[in-house]
Amino acid sequence: MIEEAAKLIAHSRFLIAFTGAGISAESGIPTFRGHGGLWENYRVEEVATPEAFRRNPSLVWDFYKMRIRKMKDAKPNKAHLALAELEKMGILKAVITQNIDDLHRRAGSENVIELHGNIYRVKCTSCDYRENLKESGRLDEFLDEGELPGCPKCGSLLRPDVVWFGEPLPEQALDEAFNLARRADLCLVIGTSAQVFPAAYIPMLVKDEGGRIIEINPDNTGITHLADIILRGKAGEIMDGLLKKIRHEVRR
Ligand code: APR
Ligand code: ZN
Repeated sequence: MIEEAAKLIAHSRFLIAFTGAGISAESGIPTFRGHGGLWENYRVEEVATPEAFRRNPSLVWDFYKMRIRKMKDAKPNKAHLALAELEKMGILKAVITQNIDDLHRRAGSENVIELHGNIYRVKCTSCDYRENLKESGRLDEFLDEGELPGCPKCGSLLRPDVVWFGEPLPEQALDEAFNLARRADLCLVIGTSAQVFPAAYIPMLVKDEGGRIIEINPDNTGITHLADIILRGKAGEIMDGLLKKIRHEVRR
C-alpha cells in the first residue's frame, strides 16, 4: 500500500493535502473527538459558539487561552515537516487545514489555507481591528492579562479569530480551497474525522472531479468509503516513511 501511495504521489499532477486535528496529535495537541478529545471535557455550546461568547466571554477566553498555552510550545511533527518538504519538491501544491495551531506554517509550508482561522489572531467584535499576537509580540502579555481583552482602536471586546460552530467560514479561504479541490488529481486526507462541514466537502469535491484520495488515519472516518488508498496509522510515522519512498521514486 505505502509503495503504491508513494508512486501515486511522486507522479501526481496536482497534489493537495487536507488536514485535521489528528496531524497535530503527535505534537501533543489534543484532538476534538475520540478518547481524550476536547469535546469530552468541554461542551461546544459553552466555549465554541457566538452565543457562548455573548453569554460568558470570560469562560470562552479561558478555554482559548488554555489552548494557546498548549499550542505555543508545541513543535511541528514529522507529518507537518514532510508536507513542507513535498511543497519544496514542487509536488504538493497546497495544504488546506481545519487546524488553528499554525503548525503547518511553522513547519515551513507556504501555501496554507486555514479554513477555521488561526488561534494567534484576535479580532474586534465591533470594528475591523485584527491582530496576530505572535507577529505583534504581544502574545505572552495577552495571555497574562486578567481582564477581558479590549480593542486598542475602539475599546470593544476582542474575540479569537477562529470559526465557531454556526459561523460562516472565511469566504475567500473556502473559495480557494474548493478551487484547489477541483483541480487536484490526488488529495492526502490526514488526521480528520471528516464530520464537520463545509470543510469535509473538500475530499468529496476531489472525488467528484475524478481525483483520488489517500487517507492517513488510525481509524475509519466519514470519508474512508471514498479513499482509494487507506494508510492506517499515525500521521508522523506514515508521512515520514512515505517521504523516503517518494524521494527514491522521483530520483528514478
Ligand atoms: N495521526 C493521524 N490521525 C490521527 C492521529 C494521529 N496521530 N491521532 C488521531 N487521529 C485522527 C482521529 O482518528 C480522528 O479521525 O484524527 C482525527 C481527529 O478528528 P477530530 O478530533 O474530529 O478533528 P477534526 O476532524 O480536525 O475536527 C474538525 O471540528 O471541532 C471542530 O473546528 C473544529 O477543526 C475542527 C473540526
Ligand atoms: Zn474595535
